[in-house]
Amino acid sequence: MLLEELNEQILKCKKCSLCKTRINVVPGEGSSRAEIMFIGEGPGKNEDEQGIPFVGAAGKLLDKLLASIDLKREDIYIANVIKCRPPGNRDPLSEEVEACRPWLDSQIEMIKPKLIILLGRHSMDRFLPNQKISFDHGKPKRRNKQVYYPIYHPAAALYRNELFEDLKKDFKRIPKVLEIIEKDKVVNNKEEKVKQDGLGI
Ligand code: URA
Repeated sequence: MLLEELNEQILKCKKCSLCKTRINVVPGEGSSRAEIMFIGEGPGKNEDEQGIPFVGAAGKLLDKLLASIDLKREDIYIANVIKCRPPGNRDPLSEEVEACRPWLDSQIEMIKPKLIILLGRHSMDRFLPNQKISFDHGKPKRRNKQVYYPIYHPAAALYRNELFEDLKKDFKRIPKVLEIIEKDKVVNNKEEKVKQDGLGI
């Protein structure tokens, strides 16, 4: 199956009650051959209205951060842990995350990104449970051959300048993390952390 075909199925999803309140499903956007996949929390108001991820204020900041490392949306893939907006932008419920789990897993399986960037704590929880974003942001970790790089969510950085500074720094290191993965310098040590060689962490 192609990614577009999968996303067509996602558009029809009725696996949880968010299908009753959504305007649009937001499957994801970008290149099916992306080396880097960004995963956010879930659609907000603007995304729900347009069916496209990260089109609001957080999305504009994400675009600027991408430009700071010479990337455009077409170079990457952006998806969310849940594909439909929770009413009032509340946090996703565990049953909603579970209902969406196979969709996101299938997208990852098809895209096969070298690096998955986890935007914020909800996205981190989905892949790296029991970590703390304030401690673990900017630290790449490998689980089952996949490298994850948790960073602050751009929406959080819009309201807290100290998080914005950390987010900019973590973002700037994305090319280096990718380079290390590509050079196959990534080793699985006992804590399953990506080798810190060259990362300065
Ligand atoms: N925040 C997210 O986590 N995802 C979006 O698509 C938009 C805002």
